[in-house]
Amino acid sequence: GKGNYRHFMLKEIYEQPTVIGDTLSTMLHPAQQTITLPDLPVDLKDVPKVTINACGTAFYAGMVTKYWLEQLARVPVEVDMASEFRYRNPPLPKDGLAMFVSQSGETMDTLEALRLCKREGQHILSVLNMPESTMDRESDAVLMTHAGPEIGVASTKAFTTQLTVLACFAIGMAKARGHLTREREAQLASALAEVPGRVAEILNHDDHIAEIAQKVAEARDVLYLGRGPSFPIALEGALKLKEISYIHAEGYASGEMKHGPIALLDEDVPVVVIAPSDELYEKTASNVQEAIARGAKVIFISDKEGIEKMKRHSNPMATIELPKVDPFVAPILYTIPVQLLSYHTAVLKGTDVDQPRNLAKSVTVE
Ligand code: M6R
Repeated sequence: GKGNYRHFMLKEIYEQPTVIGDTLSTMLHPAQQTITLPDLPVDLKDVPKVTINACGTAFYAGMVTKYWLEQLARVPVEVDMASEFRYRNPPLPKDGLAMFVSQSGETMDTLEALRLCKREGQHILSVLNMPESTMDRESDAVLMTHAGPEIGVASTKAFTTQLTVLACFAIGMAKARGHLTREREAQLASALAEVPGRVAEILNHDDHIAEIAQKVAEARDVLYLGRGPSFPIALEGALKLKEISYIHAEGYASGEMKHGPIALLDEDVPVVVIAPSDELYEKTASNVQEAIARGAKVIFISDKEGIEKMKRHSNPMATIELPKVDPFVAPILYTIPVQLLSYHTAVLKGTDVDQPRNLAKSVTVE
């Protein structure tokens, strides 16, 4: 049941500290500050290319993984929506690793992309939440998320546990390829170990985010911006808002603003910005200043340092302050406020949060 929560979605958002912790404990050894992957039927050292396929929110988890794997493991990565990939007849290298991300393990397009990769001789590794699902049976190896059953149609805890597994996988692959110093592994392991506690801290901002949602609920269109690994989080924020509040939202890479979407900006379009203090912060900050100069109402999500820097130049309509963390784990943490923002906006709009119109939890048709 929903316990004391008004909706399954809210309950599932609040379960994240626990389920991320459960998922981490399968690969992270906090005392030794190491990550170990289970035995895989492929030597990660020899993989020429990683191809990731998924749909919807799981696709965004794949997008974040591309940034992580390229940066840490220095392996070429292609990430695609399964519905596009499967009809493209893409060339796949011998001994390539094909990864599939799916909560249900039953999504038709993802499953068919898996079967195509299998026919093409790829090694099949899936990240799944449902044991004994079709993808579980058809994969060479599976890394499980321990999110527990997700009832809300909008994916929340499945996404952050997917990111958790994929972060560990990126570290494991980087190690296998000799691209990670012992010192950096220890830093990353401790940053990951802190994630459940940090997520719990962010959940304490719930009331503040609910207030900001009042502005979002009045809007007809909302833009989400992010750069680097924050770009997929902007896409995820926009998808979440669309699917449960029915407000039109778009996620954009911050650097693309001036190539078109900036024409949309005025006082009626809130702009949600995902901007952790990382090496891309300054770039995003200058895109935000341009938006504010054009009258946009910006909801700026950053850490204390990032918010202070922004306020020296411009005045966002609202800020959401998150703890300062290693940028590597930021995508997991910055997901929480965009989930809460869409949840509270939908509640204000009076929509059916757990069962949005036209949507099914598991898309087993094409
Ligand atoms: O079960 P899957 O992870 O394969 O599902 C993929 C998408 O259908 C799913 O993430 C969908 O986009 C959610 N409704 C997003 O909240």
